[in-house]
Amino acid sequence: MVFPKGFLWGGATAANQCEGAYDVDGRGLSRMDITTAGTLTERRQVTYTYPDGRTGKGLTIPTGAHGAVLPGEYYPNHDGIDFYHHYKEDIALFAEMGFKIFRMSISWSRIFPHGDESEPNQKGLEFYRNVFEELHKYGIEPLVTISHYETPLYLEEHYGGWNNRKMISFYTHYAETLFKEYRGLVKYWLTFNEINTTIMFLEMLGGKADDAAYQQAYQQLHYQFVASAQAVSIGHQISSDNQIGCMICGIVSYPLTPDPQDIMKNRHAWEQNIFYSGDVQCFGEYPTFSKRLWDAHDVHLDITDQDRADLKSGTVDMYTFSYYMSSTTTTHAVENDAQGNFSIGAKNPYLQYSEWDWADDPAGLQYYLEVIYDRYHLPLMIVENGLGAVDKVGADGSIHDPYRIAYMAEHIEAMEKAIANGVDLVGYTSWGCIDLVSAGTGQMSKRYGLIYVDRDDAGNGTFERRKKDSFYWYQNVIQTNGAAV
Ligand code: BG6
Repeated sequence: MVFPKGFLWGGATAANQCEGAYDVDGRGLSRMDITTAGTLTERRQVTYTYPDGRTGKGLTIPTGAHGAVLPGEYYPNHDGIDFYHHYKEDIALFAEMGFKIFRMSISWSRIFPHGDESEPNQKGLEFYRNVFEELHKYGIEPLVTISHYETPLYLEEHYGGWNNRKMISFYTHYAETLFKEYRGLVKYWLTFNEINTTIMFLEMLGGKADDAAYQQAYQQLHYQFVASAQAVSIGHQISSDNQIGCMICGIVSYPLTPDPQDIMKNRHAWEQNIFYSGDVQCFGEYPTFSKRLWDAHDVHLDITDQDRADLKSGTVDMYTFSYYMSSTTTTHAVENDAQGNFSIGAKNPYLQYSEWDWADDPAGLQYYLEVIYDRYHLPLMIVENGLGAVDKVGADGSIHDPYRIAYMAEHIEAMEKAIANGVDLVGYTSWGCIDLVSAGTGQMSKRYGLIYVDRDDAGNGTFERRKKDSFYWYQNVIQTNGAAV
């Protein structure tokens, strides 16, 4: 048996993609509530006009403006899959699959509607307490992401979001509230979802970002690192049971050719996209190559001695990451670019691509696990992995998704190989274990779930849940602790 006893099998979600109930029980707006459907690039084209006359586009919210929900626009996150009202039914289904762990996030603006209050919203706290208690009824451990792409909108508008150092104390107050409130109910925590995308998205989505954009992103990331480190220290003080992880977007990058220039470029891509964030959070200090990264864009950071001390004392207990695909890097001109919203670089001729142009690369997962474990020597957890695909409901209500089963099976086999090679992998939560709204496109039709939800891209549907073939397959995988892949 390769998978260790007690291996944490489960599934993963995020509040803004599944909860819905965006204006219920005192919840404030988050930045995701003004995010329409469409690719990330298209979303930036939605122009908001604010009461003070300024305009903002989609996800880019101007400092000091007043964000709003626009009439006539469709916001898929407002209803999500209505997990807020279906959580008992959903958790019962997770339990039926045999989940040992369930990854979810807390909506910051449900706890602090504006973000800068001193007292939390009791209704918000109560909702998550109910969810955690429901999970424990079935022996499922919650794994909680404190911030998953949804800063309260008020903090964006009135403080400039993560451009402002004050965000550190707003975040740590929020995190401390959670650690205290859920002591004894939650012991696995992640501070920021895919923290490294703050920089990575500039490279992948912006294309030709200027130095000012890099200056801003590196500074935002620094404040997030400090906030994360302080939260880790606070979490450890509140309970020695707490195990707190970083969460890194783990897109593996390969050199497209054996040209030494491509090898070098690829190494630098790993440093910028993965190791920069991993090193700060796992080692507690900026790596030597930081200087090169900063100099490349004339970046000068506001870093204090106290920040450095905080980073050093707040290193994480585990390294967790998402893994969906690999990409390529080259210094040569390429013609066949992958078009997927998170994919960059030339298509790899050795790999197949999904309907959304994401490269299917299980060997990349083994590669990543081995590289990362060798570097950090921390327990690893894969907290997102899965296939976004269009599913069809048959006349009899069945949903046959052999493509999803094949994708998950080959990735679980890759995990087995890494474990056999000595990697300390402690858990796996498949992404979107229940269908939910895509973060990249706002689509419902890009389905990851083992459980189908009756909801379409235009917001029609009953929210009825149905088991897909992959539901039964995963149930068997868990029952046999990975032997029956
Ligand atoms: C990860 C995010 O990057 O990828 C999730 O943490 C997201 O929030 C997932 O849903 C899959 O991406 P998408 O765009 O297909 O939803």
